[in-house]
Amino acid sequence: MKPVMTQEKKVVIITGAFRGIGHILTLHLASDWEVWPVCRTQEQSDLLRGTMGNTDSTMTLFQGDLREKSVVRSIADHCRRRKNNIHALIHCPGPIIYSSESIPAWAIWESMFKDNLAATVLLIRALSVFLHRGRIVLFGFSGLKTSLGFKSIAAYAAAKESLASLARSAAKDLACRQITVNVIAPGVFLSETGQIPSQGQHLLPSIPLGRAGGKSDITGVIDWLLSPKSQYVTGQVIKVAGGLHI
Ligand SMILES: NC(=O)c1ccc[n+]([C@@H]2O[C@H](COP(=O)([O-])OP(=O)(O)OC[C@H]3O[C@@H](n4cnc5c(N)ncnc54)[C@H](OP(=O)(O)O)[C@@H]3O)[C@@H](O)[C@H]2O)c1
Repeated sequence: MKPVMTQEKKVVIITGAFRGIGHILTLHLASDWEVWPVCRTQEQSDLLRGTMGNTDSTMTLFQGDLREKSVVRSIADHCRRRKNNIHALIHCPGPIIYSSESIPAWAIWESMFKDNLAATVLLIRALSVFLHRGRIVLFGFSGLKTSLGFKSIAAYAAAKESLASLARSAAKDLACRQITVNVIAPGVFLSETGQIPSQGQHLLPSIPLGRAGGKSDITGVIDWLLSPKSQYVTGQVIKVAGGLHI
């Protein structure tokens, strides 16, 4: 009898895997990909491992603050040992700070730019070398590429515009190795436990499709972005927002 050759699963690195969209994507992709989730703390990693217990995924968990070079370096070291099988980086974290002032204090701008951009830059610089013909997926928000101003989230909105610009530049830079870089721009999404984020409630009446986004709304787009069907799409902001802000 011939031995059955099982094809090695490709690796997908998912940051912000403990909760929110990153958590939804981690659970969704675990059956078809080798998922490497990244959480902020050891405790989060342990809890996630417990949740993932029932999937047959081969998992490597990382933890730490992704704004720290040493944390990103440890992921890169692991990629180096795995050689050429890293297919995608899905980078989810993107905290938001609301402020009653239109132009809040510099500390808020500093924090929003650091939280939304520092890890993105470090990860792209450290990991793109392993992603030949692979995918980088970043997260913006549905107000990208509009002419709108944003009253209570000015610093977050500016940081996300910078992230979209970074994605376009990285897309151009990495195209020679057939790596695509795209930004998913969500509107209002249900959390992994099905809750509407409190700050998203007031936006619901403005969503033309009439509801918040759910799990399949985001997993469908990710499946497409990770597949060969999207191989000619790069440097784009893909709004997944039910029409919010059109
Ligand atoms: N959810 C929505 O409705 C919505 C709407 C518009 C845009 N977005 C964008 O979509 C993306 C996902 O949003 P989300 O609401 O699911 O998640 P999120 O609130 O941005 O956080 C997701 C996870 O990332 C982790 N994280 C944050 N900063 C980190 C860091 N420096 N190092 C390591 N881990 C870090 C968080 O850890 P902790 O649990 O420890 O904080 C959390 O587990 C974000 O970029 C967000 O801006 C989301």
